[in-house]
Amino acid sequence: MAAQSRVKANLQTTKGPPPPPLPFALRPMQPDDIPAVMAIERRSFPSPWPEAAYRYELGNGTDSQFYVLYHLLPPSPMHNQLWRIKDQAVILGYMGARFHARSAHVSTIAVHRDWRGQGLGKYLLLTLLEIAAALQAPRATLEVRPSNWIAQRLYAQCGFVHSGTERFYYRDGEDAWLMVLEPLHGSTITHLRMLRQQVRERLVSLSAHCDVRR
Ligand SMILES: CC(C)(COP(=O)(O)OP(=O)(O)OC[C@H]1O[C@@H](n2cnc3c(N)ncnc32)[C@H](O)[C@@H]1OP(=O)(O)O)[C@@H](O)C(=O)NCCC(=O)NCCS
Repeated sequence: MAAQSRVKANLQTTKGPPPPPLPFALRPMQPDDIPAVMAIERRSFPSPWPEAAYRYELGNGTDSQFYVLYHLLPPSPMHNQLWRIKDQAVILGYMGARFHARSAHVSTIAVHRDWRGQGLGKYLLLTLLEIAAALQAPRATLEVRPSNWIAQRLYAQCGFVHSGTERFYYRDGEDAWLMVLEPLHGSTITHLRMLRQQVRERLVSLSAHCDVRR
């Protein structure tokens, strides 16, 4: 079975009635998304990736996969500050991972500033980890700045633990903390699915109450 079909099949194996729909959805990142992604990237990272890096990753069939999280909204002039797709959807965040030597390396994750603190980052990361598990990656790894305690809390909640330090890793000289989550099967996956279910419920209730015209 092709990797994408295997992921889809594995993500759809939950039995029972279908969960209430979310107004958010994930899909593979496309070149047309890059301007929206870059707008979030520049406001999210002290050393943002250049646009060319995304174009290279999407255009050259590398071992990376990137996804965008988008929200369908009724068109409104109030949404001008957000990026629309076909006048209907806005990109709220994105993530990417490199699948190498059977490991999933979380290479990027970011949520639009106006939408942080509501569960979207956790939903993105947990979905990425489920995709990694469906691709039978035995572990997930990542780097994080020691100063980025918000991201560290997110990673710790999902089960990542500190596994080392890469000195002067970032362009501005800051070290990177290396984090790992393993094994990506068995009880770990059961736990991650429970966390994803919880955050999904939070997002359903968020979507029922949030005022998207903020
Ligand atoms: C890291 C990031 C993706 C998190 O996205 P988010 O949508 O704000 O995160 P969530 O709302 O899903 O929160 C997930 C967890 O992070 C922690 N967290 C999020 N915002 C927080 C805040 N303001 N203060 C303290 N902890 C916070 C909490 O542990 C939270 O879990 P909880 O709500 O169950 O307590 C987002 O802050 C971001 O885009 N940052 C800039 C880019 C970045 O640093 N990426 C990571 C690079 S390693």
